[in-house]
Amino acid sequence: MARQFPITVHWRQENRTIQHLVTEGDYILRSFEIQGDPLPFSCRNGCCTACAVRVVNGSIDQREALGLSRELRAEGYGLLCVARATGPLEVETQDEDEVYERQFGRHFGRGRVRSGLPLDEE
Ligand code: FES
Repeated sequence: MARQFPITVHWRQENRTIQHLVTEGDYILRSFEIQGDPLPFSCRNGCCTACAVRVVNGSIDQREALGLSRELRAEGYGLLCVARATGPLEVETQDEDEVYERQFGRHFGRGRVRSGLPLDEE
């Protein structure tokens, strides 16, 4: 029988702590959804940082996390949508804007994005 590990998520924005057993190798975000606790996400492909967490205890297997730099990973940030259970893990959700800014902010222009419409039509 496949092993299962306790995965704990401190969902800071909701002021909740959730724990579920996740089967070894399964995606954590998906497993939480199936068990009735959908967590924040957007792309589900490891590209957008909507599901960013910081590891409090344990380690995270996220070789598919395209949208996270080596520096952010080294600081303990992870993307839950592409993280698989490899052992007991405790994480806390992050402010998406904070991680997004650190991951992408320096690559994209700052300031207002214009739609191409005249201002009075926006
Ligand atoms: S949902 Fe987009 S990176 Fe996880």
